[in-house]
Amino acid sequence: RMGCGWLLLLWVLPQVWGSSEVLQRSVLFRYLQISSFTNSSWMRTDALILLGELQTHSWSNASDTISFVKPWAQGTFSSQQWVHLQNIFRVFRSSFTRDIQEFAKMLSLEYPMELQLSGGCEVHPGNVSEHFLHVAYQGEYILSFQGTAWEPAPQAPQWVDLVIKVLNQDDGTKETVQWLLNDIFSQFVNGLLETGKSELEKQVKPEAWLSSGPSPGPGHLLLVCHVSGFYPKPVWVMWMRGEQEQQGTQRGDFLPNGDETWYLRATLDVAAGEAAGLACRVKHSSLGGQDLVLYWGGSHISVGLVILVVLACLVLLFVLILGFYWIRRHR
Ligand SMILES: *[C@@H]1O[C@H](CO)[C@@H](O)[C@H](O)[C@H]1NC(C)=O
Ligand SMILES: *[C@@H]1O[C@H](CO)[C@@H](O)[C@H](O)[C@H]1NC(C)=O
Ligand SMILES: *[C@@H]1O[C@H](CO)[C@@H](O)[C@H](O)[C@H]1NC(C)=O
Repeated sequence: RMGCGWLLLLWVLPQVWGSSEVLQRSVLFRYLQISSFTNSSWMRTDALILLGELQTHSWSNASDTISFVKPWAQGTFSSQQWVHLQNIFRVFRSSFTRDIQEFAKMLSLEYPMELQLSGGCEVHPGNVSEHFLHVAYQGEYILSFQGTAWEPAPQAPQWVDLVIKVLNQDDGTKETVQWLLNDIFSQFVNGLLETGKSELEKQVKPEAWLSSGPSPGPGHLLLVCHVSGFYPKPVWVMWMRGEQEQQGTQRGDFLPNGDETWYLRATLDVAAGEAAGLACRVKHSSLGGQDLVLYWGGSHISVGLVILVVLACLVLLFVLILGFYWIRRHR
């Protein structure tokens, strides 16, 4: 079987904790892999690593090494530790391929086959971490690693039990998986949080603007509030009347901008007469509590505008009267 338990012995574990910082929020660290088996002799495996929403590493089938997508992707691991970790992944990738091909033969599974693997940990404030490792076959979860052993997913087909039995006989691999999930991943994540700090804590302020969408029906308006260019992703957008949240507010999908920021829109269907006085309110971590508020039809602006127009008329009238008297006097 996978037999990479011996790699445990290769690991040198110098203490790399430079940081005594306590994590402020939970961070999800994920290794995602997709393996496509076209037939018994043709396959490819591609993988990537995500820290939260950010991709830090990529690993293409063509490559023997895991590439850094971010310059800080080695974390606080020494080059030697990184080389060891990479070796473990390389051994894992080739044993995984060989094992799947053997299982396919043993269980007469049909090609083409798609296997997806997702493993990692979620590190919570206070240094608590939860780990997971799931495997999906043809788009459905079939098994996962729970604590110390492999277990079938609730709806998994019957043949998965046999796979589980075989996998659970391999103590070396089980130990390696436990050690990776329990110790190495959280250690690696803590390092990444340190080296990638400035990028992970990046804040970009949203810009917002209003427009009207296609009319939802006679006498109705679709108010659209666009919010764009913000980072990180969590944002709160709501149509308001004064302090009253408008429950009819519909949020669109988060769309990625090309510069790693996000776009989101919020729409509201209202009777045409009721649009005045509505406002779109945006809350985002980058705004430091100063919400963006945009008024529909500029009811606030229009008060100012009315005063301005009245003032301009008065001034004009005054000038006309002055001019009139001036002309009369000079005749
Ligand atoms: C987090 O836990 C690790 C062991 O898993 C320990 O070495 C480290 O000092 C802890 N860090 C903090 C900030 O408590
Ligand atoms: C397997 O699939 C590849 C790519 O589609 C094809 O070139 C090859 O001939 C196939 N091999 C067999 C044994 O069917
Ligand atoms: C993927 O990598 C494996 C191992 O290096 C190789 O045998 C296989 O042909 C590659 N698959 C493709 C589609 O290039």
